[in-house]
Amino acid sequence: MAERPIVIFGDPVLREVSQPVEEFNQEVKDLVSDLTDTLKKARGLGLSAVQIGVLKRVFIVDLSAVDITAKPQVFINPEIIESDGETEYEEGCLSFPGIYQKITRASKIRVRALDLTGQPFELEVEGLAARAIQHEYDHLEGKLFIDYLSPLAKTMLKGRLKKLSVAS
Ligand code: NI
Repeated sequence: MAERPIVIFGDPVLREVSQPVEEFNQEVKDLVSDLTDTLKKARGLGLSAVQIGVLKRVFIVDLSAVDITAKPQVFINPEIIESDGETEYEEGCLSFPGIYQKITRASKIRVRALDLTGQPFELEVEGLAARAIQHEYDHLEGKLFIDYLSPLAKTMLKGRLKKLSVAS
């Protein structure tokens, strides 16, 4: 399919809640294909449908940039059913080019989702994969990684965020 433009912070669509996928048709396959191409081009670790302007509960995670054995994985209508522990790590987002912040998240999660054919699967993950899945899941709820920042960190970032939102 095709690479699509990535929505940048400031675009109100990033605050919308995405809707569940109900039919596993060509449209969903095309969406996943576009997400895969766009993520590869951007060299990111994950991308959700809302970031290319599609309000569907779909995201992909591809850790191959940091783990050559990793394959892109599609999550449709995902649910995080367990989370455990806490870990802090520097995080970025393709909708916030150039901005990286230390964010605390659960260190281990169990996620349930559907694959491209509509088959359910469950995974227990930790480390970077757990972080990427939690980050992408938040996008489906209209939540962004800057929402986790302390008031002080947010204040310090204000000018850079404003620049992004004006340019978008
Ligand atoms: Ni993101």
